[in-house]
Amino acid sequence: MSRSAHPAGPRHADVLPEGHYSAPPADLNALDPKVWSQTVTRDEHGVLTVGGIDVKRLAEEYGTPAYVLDEDDFRSRARAWRTAFGENADVFYAGKAFLSRAVVRWLNEEGLNLDVCSGGELATALSAGMPAERIAFHGNNKSAAEIRRAVEAGVGRIVLDSFQEIVRVAHIARELGTRQRVQIRVTVGVEAHTHEFIATAHEDQKFGIPLAGGQAAEAVRRALQLDSLEVIGIHSHIGSQIFDMSGFEVAAHRVVGLLKDIRDEHGVELPEIDLGGGLGIAYTSDDDPREPHEIAKALSEIVTRECEAAKLRTPRISVEPGRAIVGPTAFTLYEVGTVKPLEGLRTYVSVDGGMSDNIRTALYDAEYSVALVSRSSDAGPMLTRVVGKHCESGDIVVKDAFLPSDLAPGDLIAVPATGAYCRSMASNYNHVLRPPVVAVKDGQARVIVRRETEEDLLRLDVG
Ligand code: LLP
Repeated sequence: MSRSAHPAGPRHADVLPEGHYSAPPADLNALDPKVWSQTVTRDEHGVLTVGGIDVKRLAEEYGTPAYVLDEDDFRSRARAWRTAFGENADVFYAGKAFLSRAVVRWLNEEGLNLDVCSGGELATALSAGMPAERIAFHGNNKSAAEIRRAVEAGVGRIVLDSFQEIVRVAHIARELGTRQRVQIRVTVGVEAHTHEFIATAHEDQKFGIPLAGGQAAEAVRRALQLDSLEVIGIHSHIGSQIFDMSGFEVAAHRVVGLLKDIRDEHGVELPEIDLGGGLGIAYTSDDDPREPHEIAKALSEIVTRECEAAKLRTPRISVEPGRAIVGPTAFTLYEVGTVKPLEGLRTYVSVDGGMSDNIRTALYDAEYSVALVSRSSDAGPMLTRVVGKHCESGDIVVKDAFLPSDLAPGDLIAVPATGAYCRSMASNYNHVLRPPVVAVKDGQARVIVRRETEEDLLRLDVG
């Protein structure tokens, strides 16, 4: 993830201190389409507009901070994945990236399926009318109550994550007099090139059943013996924010290897494989993500080739992109509260949110971009660190970024590509209220998740 580090130098105001940043961009007013959603532009006054609405109006009507989500951009990315994978594959949007009822309806309308990983996500999906058979239920420790609810609702697949869960789901399905479709999640032993906390296919972690030592084969053996389970396939998810396709290649190779072993041992060709999510997006201009059609082509070629070599019928592929669909569709709009230059270091810009609306910088050392959006500016670049209002020095939103040197309290700034894992990981730390999600489209804005209120906080406090 990291960009070229600037060499450390003497701390004069005209020499940049150490940090992870490239040279200042040539034009601070420019909006790189790689990191901003498709309808973002600046109007004739230099104010950023999205979905045909300017951010000053959005800030006045909905307050700041706010996540601003471009509905057309969301729909077109969802459609691009759907189209790229075509009729012989299924796209399951990973709800953990961001889920709300409006999003469920958009997905439903665009023909995508949904991956949920908790009872709460399942409830949201069902309450917004996602047909249960188009839902996949994930998780390494689903409760019996969650499993029961999923089976009762008739979810299309439950992804089994442990030996205990095979028995648990089989038992509940038998009690309910049904046969549950399941996939078995395996860990293929791939070291994905991403942050350690979001890599999930190496063996020393909590997800899935290792292929190594024949454990996954044993899991399949046991599941196939249980009448209340219909084993439809094998699942592998190697991690998140990945650009390099080689990890998927190794994963597909190993999953197909398991399918072949299953065929040889049981005479059964499992009809499906799921290669998970994890495709990276651009957070800064230095990131170069792949397009859905390239990914679809690469994955289907890999699987077809591996199956031909193993003399297997090519299974139906499914994928679970979360970040790649919703990540680029939203930005977080903040108001600048203080601007604090530290001689020879950088200027600290405090905004009215912080680690409670975007924990990713503190948690993963994630990089973001930022722009002044309530006006354009001809002022020169100033090295800044955009920080929040929390009582913690690690409360950083954008670690190193250039903003115009005339930045002042009251200006609006926006951090793009915050659609994934920002609202969904938001907290109430310091009893800061979680921002709303405002969807914009064709000159109209509407709140799809409202701002939290002090009443919301106090309602839970019943002591
Ligand atoms: N499928 C499974 C089984 C997953 O565990 C995940 C993500 C996905 C699909 C979707 O992955 P995506 O396409 O969004 O990369 N909070 C972290 C990311 C955690 C990802 C967890 N699982 C972050 O903010 O980077």
